Amino acid sequence: MSPCCSFRWGMVLTIVIGGLGLLAFFMVNGDTEPNPSSSSLSSMAESPPTYHENIASILHESCSSCHRPDGGAPFSLLSYKNARRRGRQIVQVTKSRYMPPWKAEPGHGEFEGARRLPDETIELLEAWVQGGMKEGDPAAGPPPPQYTEGWSLGEPDLVIQMKKPFKIPAEGPEIFRRFGIPLDIPEDRYIKAIEFRPTSPDVVHHVFIMRTNANRQGNGDGLGFEGELLEGWTPGAITKFLPDGVAKHLKKGDTIVLRSHFRPSGKIEHEQSKIGFYFGDPPKRALTGLRLRNNKIDILPGEDGYTVSDTVVVPADTDAIGIAAHAHYICREVRATATYPDQTTEWLLLIKDWDFNWQEHYRFAKPVFFPKGTVLNMEYVYDNTASNPRNPFDPPRRVRYGQLSTDEMAILYIEALLKDDADLPLFKNLLIQGKNAGKKEASGKPK
Ligand code: HEC
Repeated sequence: MSPCCSFRWGMVLTIVIGGLGLLAFFMVNGDTEPNPSSSSLSSMAESPPTYHENIASILHESCSSCHRPDGGAPFSLLSYKNARRRGRQIVQVTKSRYMPPWKAEPGHGEFEGARRLPDETIELLEAWVQGGMKEGDPAAGPPPPQYTEGWSLGEPDLVIQMKKPFKIPAEGPEIFRRFGIPLDIPEDRYIKAIEFRPTSPDVVHHVFIMRTNANRQGNGDGLGFEGELLEGWTPGAITKFLPDGVAKHLKKGDTIVLRSHFRPSGKIEHEQSKIGFYFGDPPKRALTGLRLRNNKIDILPGEDGYTVSDTVVVPADTDAIGIAAHAHYICREVRATATYPDQTTEWLLLIKDWDFNWQEHYRFAKPVFFPKGTVLNMEYVYDNTASNPRNPFDPPRRVRYGQLSTDEMAILYIEALLKDDADLPLFKNLLIQGKNAGKKEASGKPK
């Protein structure tokens, strides 16, 4: 198993966004979500919208999870004053659909918590700004939502932290390290959510949170590679609870191992990561993973449209609950489909403007049933030209598969619930065999 992204279990979504290319991310119409705040659009001409009556609820619901003190975004949007100061910019970034960040194309897989504003909401924000950003009556609007400082899901049941800070030099190569943190739980627990909080977010490229019952600890060396992956993280990750009846098992005596990847930031920094665990009931069904990947990546400088694929046949009936793609900077498009035994093909995920900094663990709005024999397919397309604003090399260089962030990867990870727990070994074997996959061709094109 490679020390980097070999087995992705968790969600990935990062905060820092680069590149104006995103501003070109204009979207098609087709939102049907009703938005209560936009009901008064027709009467807007006579009385312009006000912050408290029309705008606060939008910003609270769609922006404040990140735009709050300590929420990951660079400024808060919780008050009238804050919103007013940013009015024009808010219109700009919502119209271009740069904000709220959401990369999955509508109509290609349905996801829980899709952060996509309906057109009417965007118009309402614009009408508010054009109407002079009126405040309105504070009594007419909702109070700002309450957040527990630091933790997005409220106070965790258990918080652990790296034993001592780890120093990351100002410059030099990227650093891969493992850190053991022994747990002190009196009995087995069942994890409903894990939140990771870096103390120096600028230097943490990603972290895998694993559990092992080998009692190892310390900073750095000597930790084994074994262990079960519980969660993957990149900066800005949005923590979600697992669905009802699903949980990950933490055993008495376990040690948590962080597999951390650091990137020097230009100044000396010290990282002492914290992890919060939320516990719940034992699971009713076993959770497993299906992974597609292709490590045979070799892209010449100037090459556009380079494509790799992989295919996996689902070995037993499952219900897919989540999907996460992983690639680095020059990937442009991510396509994932399922072809069922009756030969119909359905989109699972389409990202047309892949951004390393906005990776996400997508949770399906409803579980997607894969009967045994369903063929899962992924295709990743890369753009290694100078006109790709996210290309880390100027002029472009040959890019191959590898662990550094300037190398490339192609991984698709699907979380699935088993119909029958006894099928678990079939999925484990598949993960082992699939290690250097990248052989078969796509089998079916979605309409
Ligand atoms: C999932 C987290 C998240 C959500 C939700 C979110 N933002 Fe942001 N926003 C960020 C981060 C991180 C940045 C800073 C990085 C950047 O500028 O891209 C940012 C930057 C911005 C900027 C500055 C852009 C620039 O060019 O400097 C504006 C304006 C903004 N957000 C408005 C909004 C509005 C309005 C909403 C809700 C409709 C929203 N954001 C929702 C995370 C979020």
